[in-house]
Amino acid sequence: MRCDATAPVMRHTAVLWTNACFRSILAAAALCLGTASLAPYAAAQTAALAVNQAVSPSNAQLASPAIEARVEQLLRQMTLEEKIGQLVQYNDTGDVSSIQTSSAPATAEKPGAMAVQNPTTGNRVNAMQLAAAGQLGSMLNTIGAERTNTYQHLAVEKSRLHIPLLFGADVIHGFRTIYPVPLGLAASFDPKLVTELSHMSAEEATTAGIRWFYSPMVDISRDARWGRSVEGAGEDPYLGAAMARAYIHGYQGDDLSKPGSVAASVKHFAAYGAAEAGREYNTTDMSEITLRQIYLPPYQAAVEAGAATVMSAFNSLNGVPASANPFLLSKILRGEWGFNGFVVSDYTAVMELIHHGIALDAATATRKAVTAGVDVDMMSHFYDTQLPELVRTGQVSMEVVDEAVRRVLRVKLATGVFEHPYAEGAEVTAAVAGHRLLVRKAAEESFVLLQNNKLGSGEPLLPLSPASQRIALIGPLADDAAEMMGAWSGAPNVRDIISLKQALTERVRQTGGALRYAQGTGIADSSQAGFPEAIQTARAADVVILAMGESGRMSGEAGSRANLDLPGNQQQLLEAVAATGKPIVLLVFSGRPLVLDWAAQHIPAIMEVWFPGTEAGHAIANVLFGDVSPSGKLPMSFPRAVGQEPLYYNQFPTGRPPVGIDLSKPPTGEERFLSRYIDIPNSALFPFGYGLSYSNFSYRDVKVSKTSIPLSQVLVNRKAPLLEATATVTNTGKRMATEVVQCYVRNLGASIEQPVRSLKGFERITLAPGESRQVHFSLGFKELSFFNLDNSPSMEATHYTAWIGGSSLASQDASFEVTNSTSAADSPLAVILQ
Ligand code: BGC
Repeated sequence: MRCDATAPVMRHTAVLWTNACFRSILAAAALCLGTASLAPYAAAQTAALAVNQAVSPSNAQLASPAIEARVEQLLRQMTLEEKIGQLVQYNDTGDVSSIQTSSAPATAEKPGAMAVQNPTTGNRVNAMQLAAAGQLGSMLNTIGAERTNTYQHLAVEKSRLHIPLLFGADVIHGFRTIYPVPLGLAASFDPKLVTELSHMSAEEATTAGIRWFYSPMVDISRDARWGRSVEGAGEDPYLGAAMARAYIHGYQGDDLSKPGSVAASVKHFAAYGAAEAGREYNTTDMSEITLRQIYLPPYQAAVEAGAATVMSAFNSLNGVPASANPFLLSKILRGEWGFNGFVVSDYTAVMELIHHGIALDAATATRKAVTAGVDVDMMSHFYDTQLPELVRTGQVSMEVVDEAVRRVLRVKLATGVFEHPYAEGAEVTAAVAGHRLLVRKAAEESFVLLQNNKLGSGEPLLPLSPASQRIALIGPLADDAAEMMGAWSGAPNVRDIISLKQALTERVRQTGGALRYAQGTGIADSSQAGFPEAIQTARAADVVILAMGESGRMSGEAGSRANLDLPGNQQQLLEAVAATGKPIVLLVFSGRPLVLDWAAQHIPAIMEVWFPGTEAGHAIANVLFGDVSPSGKLPMSFPRAVGQEPLYYNQFPTGRPPVGIDLSKPPTGEERFLSRYIDIPNSALFPFGYGLSYSNFSYRDVKVSKTSIPLSQVLVNRKAPLLEATATVTNTGKRMATEVVQCYVRNLGASIEQPVRSLKGFERITLAPGESRQVHFSLGFKELSFFNLDNSPSMEATHYTAWIGGSSLASQDASFEVTNSTSAADSPLAVILQ
């Protein structure tokens, strides 16, 4: 496979289920193409370094004086080649069969682990030789203890300074025991669970020598067409930030060096999820206010939680590619947030600066990336080929290289790989029996019941009656274990995964029911050959379970879709089975919101199950039969039609809101001149925060603890709570169930337009039938402030409404005012806090 600076790059690994990868602004201006003088480079580099020291470090462990002393001692001994080596990473080919465990040169017969390809030169490189020469800092996707240990042995025993390698991998939702895809996990609104799961995956992967995860992906995604929506927590910055913190705590624990801890890499910095038209790798362009208010909070939360590394994104932001963007990487990340870990580029993102058109050659791309703040070059191999000359000619200062090396060494020292370089403990090579219950619970919590209509009996279709009945199981996702993993799981074994058919077969064996299965069609098929059997199977049943949706490969990286309907001829199969008149439960497997408009009108029960992971079948069966009541809530809005995208609940108001109008009817007269579509309603089919339960919950007494707060009080302490919003929630149904109680806020009257509502708190509560609980949400500056025209967080004397309820449509509210202080000291109308 050939890769160079102008051709796209195809990456492959045989083991990890990875995707193929084709391959402030003022400072950027100073680094523009063709500048002859070196002075601007020097100025930009000094600015970037100075800003790094401005605020307190985000990760205290990385700032430890003991680590610093060791870093400086090593740095003093390193040659330029050894320094650059720390900034170099190779992708393992994953070809275990031809593993060559010596550092002898690669041959055509024994390429495997040794020979990795330099995408810049196209040359085969012996990564093991590089490790032994101390010219390799990290490996990507090296899976298996034997393999990581082989590399590590060469780095630690043979290299001059014995600096160990860091092994990084895309462990996104589990290593061997797989939990739901991150979008599904976000539907749980359960950060504690996310911490437990991510710690579990770190414990599994460290037994194989992996100490660095390219996770969490915290990109906000408001457009379901974007395939990578599946990897994040959806459309909301508050939920996204809560999830981001939870992952970091789970991966890194309170000490990076503890066994079972890994360094996290928060990605993709920044705003990658805003790709125009939802098209993968596309440009992003937005106001700085939107960037700061909507897109940055999850990254910031992860950095504040101590994330050791950050991955710079592929996209450009307002014309400057994120992987050469000093505004993002120096001003915000290091300057404002005090990030003191290292930044790794996304895969070949440094090379892609050429495609972006901001560098005409590899040298310029390298200079722009490294001076902007990208410390490690993932797979462009521009740093190893270009940096020596750039440093020798003074185009990149030794100080910039030294600082990048320091950052890498700090993380290596903090993770304890110097003391414990090799994989430790019994290697986990398959799903762990003791982890199954946890991943099953996660899957159960991730499911979102979208519809559960009453049948003729007056009872809703779900849960299914435990009494024996004839069940028809139909659809392409019913018995496909591999598909339960979604777009990008770690290193699962397919034989560990429980399919829905397997679980339902076990269950009917216990309950005495009868299960008949017919696939009906494939995920993306056009042939209707299987339809008659499926229809027959449905006719002979009391209830039909249809398992439909996307293949894992239809979302994830490079998985953008312009259509959001059921792929292939699944819609036709759905309609044909519905025509039998049998009660149908539609299970939707997908990595994104799909358009389920027809289903919502014709199918009594619909449940979104995402891609649930190793325990998929058991978890779905438990919820279908009511052992567990569904509690998931949507982290992304489900549209009525693809033309609504990007669709999100926290939109800005317009000057022509269509209030009090029936938007399901075409407009007549003046109704037309409102912000609306003429053919469908504006609203989501299923909105953010929505999800049904087998029980019912009522909300009352929505109150705020203060109706008026002087603006001056805000000044006293930005961290102190300002007031509480409370509501009493009652389980009015017949069964114990969990509700995700949500608090939304709107700020009216500010100098900048604010969203119609924004999530500012949530809590999962479990109530017995008839039980009530008062739920409290603390609101302070963090929740109530907004970014003003100076891009600073601020509060003004304005009006606020708080809603508490079970979705973003919550209707019960309470109001309060922030009032101008009368004291002279606080007299300005707006108090702007920097
Ligand atoms: C993806 C990243 C991933 C990296 C390494 C890239 O193509 O965008 O999310 O971590 O590859 O596999």
